[in-house]
Amino acid sequence: MNATPAIRTASPGRIEFIGNHTDYNGGQVLGVSLNLGVEAEATPREDRQLHFSSDGIAAAFKGSLDELVPQSGELAWANYPLGILKVLLEAGHEVASGCDLHFRSNLPTGAGLSSSAAIELATLEAICQLNGLDLSRKEKVLLAQRAENTFVGVPCGMLDQAVSCFGREDHLVRIDCANTAFETVPLAHGLHFWVFNTNHKHSLVDSMYSRRHAECRKALEILRQADPGLQHLAHARIELLEHLEAGSDIRRRAEHTVLENLRVQQVIQALEAHNLEEVGDLLFASHASSRDLFENSIPELDTLVELLQGLRSHGVIGARLTGGGFGGAVMALTTDRFSSPDAGNVLQLYRHRHPGSEAPTCLHVRTGNGTRRLD
Ligand code: GLA
Repeated sequence: MNATPAIRTASPGRIEFIGNHTDYNGGQVLGVSLNLGVEAEATPREDRQLHFSSDGIAAAFKGSLDELVPQSGELAWANYPLGILKVLLEAGHEVASGCDLHFRSNLPTGAGLSSSAAIELATLEAICQLNGLDLSRKEKVLLAQRAENTFVGVPCGMLDQAVSCFGREDHLVRIDCANTAFETVPLAHGLHFWVFNTNHKHSLVDSMYSRRHAECRKALEILRQADPGLQHLAHARIELLEHLEAGSDIRRRAEHTVLENLRVQQVIQALEAHNLEEVGDLLFASHASSRDLFENSIPELDTLVELLQGLRSHGVIGARLTGGGFGGAVMALTTDRFSSPDAGNVLQLYRHRHPGSEAPTCLHVRTGNGTRRLD
């Protein structure tokens, strides 16, 4: 080890606000960065060794910068920092020596708040700081997405990495995935975010996510025969979808993608016009579309959304499944009126409906800033 002091970085978890499975279809998406996330403490080494450890994870990783290969089992978590090093080197950036990386997270695990992107971005920031690499935030997002796609093996879009990187307290992050353009949109005061987690295990390295990704690619391929200029499924005109077989899975996936992308833009307009009722209608419509057309909801998520929809007079503005789906969590946007006892009632009613399911949990979360150096 050498005497260079450790540097500390942080990157937040995220909520997908609206834009379900629009990101890898060239659409728009809105996300919220949280004040919960992952911190990395990085100490440079004089040799080529890599030592990764994390509070709350027993298995520590030891390896070498010269042999970056995917891990499995209890060391699978190390694939996030390893993937970052791999893509940095592949892109021609110079990483001079090994390092010790220690992680701390206050993100609840399995809550669908994307701890993976938070680890990736905290690692990337730390390695950039240690090696004097001057990358733009956009480059960081694309590298982290590439690490996840090529090293971890998840064909995700850029939502998680972009929100973690560009996040800003009291703002939404708006991502135009076709143009890789990012901006922050201010949030009005008095809005609150709640995450209701079904605790129904969902793994993103899961075949269902990949299957939906493949269905969307197939839809685009068919539509391009009718409109060769079409670059992204999210940009298809709704009439063009007539070229997909009526009633087919592919047609429903495409309808969801196109209409969801329009909803993202409508939400932005409704927020600008301070029309919270319309924002709420659009959030509920997004959930219904995920449930009926994209078919990535589960009954437990539907119950949570239905219960929350019944509480519009108690301050619920809107609610929808957030993230990949097939389990995971629902996010709710509320006013000050919605309180912890209201959330407790939702959990209690849910347990009556799903006595055999995992006990659900609820978090009142706050917005926070994006990837940064701490010291
Ligand atoms: C996961 C992925 C994102 C995005 C969402 C669905 O969170 O990591 O890239 O595709 O699912 O919108």
